[in-house]
Amino acid sequence: VKRILSGIKPSGELNIGGYAGALRQFVQMEKDYQCFFFVPDLHAITVYQDPKELRERSRQIAALYIAAGIDPDKSTIFMQSHVPAHAELGWLMETQAHFGELSRMTQFKEKSGGQDSVSSALFTYPALMAADILIYRASHVPVGDDQKQHLELTRDLATRFNNKYKKTFVVPEPVIQEQGSRIMGLDDPSSKMSKSNPNKSSYILLLDKPADIRKKCARAVTDSEMSVRYDWDTKPAVSNLLEIYSVFSEEPIPVIEKRYEGQGYGAFKKELAEVVIAKLEPIQQRYEEIVHSEELDRILKDGARRAAEVANKTLNDAKKAMGLLTFE
Ligand code: TYM
Repeated sequence: VKRILSGIKPSGELNIGGYAGALRQFVQMEKDYQCFFFVPDLHAITVYQDPKELRERSRQIAALYIAAGIDPDKSTIFMQSHVPAHAELGWLMETQAHFGELSRMTQFKEKSGGQDSVSSALFTYPALMAADILIYRASHVPVGDDQKQHLELTRDLATRFNNKYKKTFVVPEPVIQEQGSRIMGLDDPSSKMSKSNPNKSSYILLLDKPADIRKKCARAVTDSEMSVRYDWDTKPAVSNLLEIYSVFSEEPIPVIEKRYEGQGYGAFKKELAEVVIAKLEPIQQRYEEIVHSEELDRILKDGARRAAEVANKTLNDAKKAMGLLTFE
């Protein structure tokens, strides 16, 4: 059977890139598989987070999971820090990860920017991520394109551990969507859409108001050719907008190209905003009902309990395999 694990960090407000690459897949996979969706708060604190904002964003991400359609009775939704076994297996995985391979992680290189003063947890981040996945013996991990390298490392660590000690972990496969796995900035199609970009028009947030979404779409960069055509090599900005359109309207790209044939970008950009708004509005409405509810507390508590049952067992198996003294 397939078992799914994935999560979205509460380190900034969720943008439509995270929806297109990750959250959208979560909702689809829930139908057929046993799923664990968590909020990796321990990963968020590898860089400084304002404590009050971190608390708010953690609830926000969990509420967005549910608002987007994940059913908490079917899937297990929880906070990473509520299941201590993650951190503990994270340590065990650090004993397996090599300094050299962690040094080669592009996300670490980007985020540390060559500075010495970054936290050591930013460096060991991928070992904890491997633990998140391996502790549920997840067979599949739905992620955006930027997590590919971390998944590769997770596979290496699982294989290394299994060979060195005892077959304990399932070697997981990444699940990366053909479309929407790499949504780029609206201001610059060569950099990923990211919540850390200081230019607020470069991203659309899941909780943006319709007026802001319209403004941001109108401002999005295009090119001087004036034709709505999908071609990443010569028309990256327009191709990015087409991918967003396709993800949110659930229509194939050729259908959209055809619709705007012989027209400039005006109508295309206007309707792009409407397509995004149409998908986000019901999510935002449900979000408002959930985010401050006691129901959410109950879901997270129950999720942590269910997750810990599975996680503690794998942790114990890993400890036993390594020769740490256990009593069962
Ligand atoms: P995070 O929080 O940066 O992003 C969450 C998910 O959204 C995807 N994503 C995107 N997809 C398409 N276009 C974009 N512009 C875009 N931006 C983000 C990411 O690829 C990711 O799938 N390390 C992870 C969190 C994590 C995790 C895990 C994920 C911790 N442990 C275990 C899976 C399994 C991260 O920082 O994602």
